[in-house]
Amino acid sequence: MSTLVIQDLHVEIEGKEILKGVNLTIKTGEIHAIMGPNGTGKSTLASAIMGHPKYTVTSGSITLDGEDVLEMEVDERARAGLFLGMQYPSEISGVTNADFMRSAMNARREEGNEISLMKFIRELDSKMEILAMEEEMAQRYLNEGFSGGEKKRNEILQMMMIKPSFAILDEIDSGLDIDALKVVAEGVNQMRGEEFGCLIITHYQRLLNYITPDYVHVMMQGRVVKSGGEELSQKLEAEGYDWIKAELGIEDETVGQEA
Ligand SMILES: Nc1ncnc2c1ncn2[C@@H]1O[C@H](COP(=O)(O)OP(=O)(O)O)[C@@H](O)[C@H]1O
Ligand SMILES: [Mg+2]
Repeated sequence: MSTLVIQDLHVEIEGKEILKGVNLTIKTGEIHAIMGPNGTGKSTLASAIMGHPKYTVTSGSITLDGEDVLEMEVDERARAGLFLGMQYPSEISGVTNADFMRSAMNARREEGNEISLMKFIRELDSKMEILAMEEEMAQRYLNEGFSGGEKKRNEILQMMMIKPSFAILDEIDSGLDIDALKVVAEGVNQMRGEEFGCLIITHYQRLLNYITPDYVHVMMQGRVVKSGGEELSQKLEAEGYDWIKAELGIEDETVGQEA
């Protein structure tokens, strides 16, 4: 079992404090969802965990089985088992989708123990079938000319191939029609198990109709302000966020301007 612990995390972008003390613990075997209005710091949390250079951690800690994640380079974080499925995946010309995944998989393996081409292709075929992806997508340049929905499926494909210990899926449901949403959920559900932990960031509850989270957290003003079980996401769907704002006595849920 692995554990990812985020403690009192403060993060700045260009001198502005966005995360103001995030606490969160995720164990493998668990699926967590973070919900919250736009502009409350959800993507910032994902980027800080993965080590995006624009996001400066000013205090607090992130550890993976006791190891200091903040001391790791971006590629080390990936090799340590962290994966980010991005809200806006970038296009990389000149690198095929298949080559990218194969290098990422091999980066997590010991030297001399690389996955064979045959095994890779077999696995790729089976995962792409689950995700109802056209075979030719594997040979295209990474995300180049992919539609919004194809990019999201592709993030899930990468996750299924790389098999991280922890996946953070940022708005993986945005822009998907209901069929694509079900396919993406199926991919995540197939990963479920003792070796896999997941943090699903979503603005809407609808993805959680297909992936039942063990824990639901609400983020506002750069903090996790409420945690509960699956019923919390249903309450948010039915009643919105106003009741939480009232409970906390806040007016603006976004990160807002610093005084
Ligand atoms: N790269 C950036 N440069 C400047 N400000 C940013 C950047 N990314 C996010 N922000 C600001 O940080 C706040 C939180 O953004 P974000 O983490 O994307 O929120 P969420 O994902 O919850 O919608 C917003 O006020 C946003 O404008
Ligand atoms: Mg976001």
